[in-house]
Amino acid sequence: MTAQIIDGKGFAAEVRQKVAGHVTRLREEHGLTPGLAVVLVGEDPASQVYVRAKGKATVEAGMESFEHRLDADTPEADLLALVEKLNKDPAVHGILVQLPLPEHIDSDLVINAIDPDKDVDGFHILNVGRLGTGQKSMVPCTPLGCLMMLRHHHGTLSGKEAVVIGRSNIVGKPMAHLLLGDSCTVTIAHSRTQDLPGVVRRADIVVAAVGRPGMVQGDWIKPGATVIDVGINRIEAPERGTNEDGSVKTRLVGDVDFDSAKDVAGAITPVPGGVGPMTIACLLANTVTACARANRLPEPEGLTA
Ligand code: GUN
Repeated sequence: MTAQIIDGKGFAAEVRQKVAGHVTRLREEHGLTPGLAVVLVGEDPASQVYVRAKGKATVEAGMESFEHRLDADTPEADLLALVEKLNKDPAVHGILVQLPLPEHIDSDLVINAIDPDKDVDGFHILNVGRLGTGQKSMVPCTPLGCLMMLRHHHGTLSGKEAVVIGRSNIVGKPMAHLLLGDSCTVTIAHSRTQDLPGVVRRADIVVAAVGRPGMVQGDWIKPGATVIDVGINRIEAPERGTNEDGSVKTRLVGDVDFDSAKDVAGAITPVPGGVGPMTIACLLANTVTACARANRLPEPEGLTA
């Protein structure tokens, strides 16, 4: 059997189009333009790339993008003051403080200073609690994207055995809560799990989010299972030759050994082109959701958990 490849890039384009439709409706029917503020502290190259991509996607969806770039040595108090200003700004419906922050800044303090209703990352402790207790919350973008793809592929997820590999606050734990909310039987596996292959073999749905290139092998997968690969790992690829400076070329791989898994799984997300594009699409979706909720309008259809 060869797995169906779940086209995250194509699906993300559909979600972004849906977002743009909601944005048009908010503007034409209610005179509202959703606004997303992204805050970057320092010059981390990867973060700069992410922040630029987020700003571009926000504008392309018809929303307002507010970018705040602060020096790496910005005092924590100054960052907290900016967050407070954005909390009060009625043009800002979503706030994202790009992580990681410089070491002298307490990330938890900053995240928990964001108005929870503007917390489009879903990292605020109140949103974590709301998700964990099944209340309406802002949901972290990557797990929300995974849930959307799973619902799109399966229809209902009710009664399915799901194994989430990885227990991070950003992906593993919220993913498990979302799957539980859709009535899956959920196991969270991690680096200390005994007989990880045996645990994964039970699953109708596998979500791999451990950050270990190619760890999940094809013979761990139950035939026909759906595999969602959250991993984005850069590895050396000597088969691609060398760069001008003599260094070995690299490529991106997931946490799943794609070549062996695709012969067993029923469906699988590729890396790149799977979960990755869904994360930004869901950030836009969360911004529209935050704008609708702030104005006591109905939940935007198809964009929430
Ligand atoms: N850094 C890498 N990914 C993310 C993300 O999803 N949100 C924030 N705030 N920072 C990140």
